[in-house]
Amino acid sequence: MREEIQKILVDEKELDAIVTRIAGEIDRDYRGRGKRLLLLCILKGSVVFTGDLMKKLTIPVEIDFMKVSSYGAGTTSSGTVNIILDILRKDLDQCDILVIEDIIDSGRTLAYLVDYLKLKGANSVKTVTLLDKPDRRVVDFEPDYIGKIIPDEFVVGYGLDYDERFRELPFVGVLKPEVYEK
Ligand code: PRP
Repeated sequence: MREEIQKILVDEKELDAIVTRIAGEIDRDYRGRGKRLLLLCILKGSVVFTGDLMKKLTIPVEIDFMKVSSYGAGTTSSGTVNIILDILRKDLDQCDILVIEDIIDSGRTLAYLVDYLKLKGANSVKTVTLLDKPDRRVVDFEPDYIGKIIPDEFVVGYGLDYDERFRELPFVGVLKPEVYEK
């Protein structure tokens, strides 16, 4: 294991079980609906989760991407959401959107995105998060599908970064405080 990692919080086996469970729930809830099911991956952290999830779904899906920023540098939330890459397709009224996140912290990003996508005319908007830190919530927001509720620790891996590092780790681990307190 990398020396910067204090402990593994969600190992590969548990991640696989979580993704399998959520894929089953989505299959069950969306099978036979008349609209296009659009997995909306929120860059960059959700890339790994979205890829694994779509492989386990048995119903037809499409994918698209948005990039927003809710964090400044380091570990604190700036409190604003900026759209850096928007969704360009024009047929959102034909789409049931599932916004895919790696983690919910303050809740600002998803609360904002759900409103934004509804205003853009999506047929429906629901949210999926691999990890949820309810202790950090600033705005009232509940996702529709949750992988795992975790304590307020600085986690990296499986897409999640610290200063763009550690996204490639196949597990979710807790970062040693000395790495980000330097
Ligand atoms: C993280 C995460 C969510 C958001 C959650 O993204 O992927 O998008 O922060 O925080 P919130 O609930 O407080 O809004 P980040 O801005 O770190 O970008 P990244 O995915 O590109 O690393």
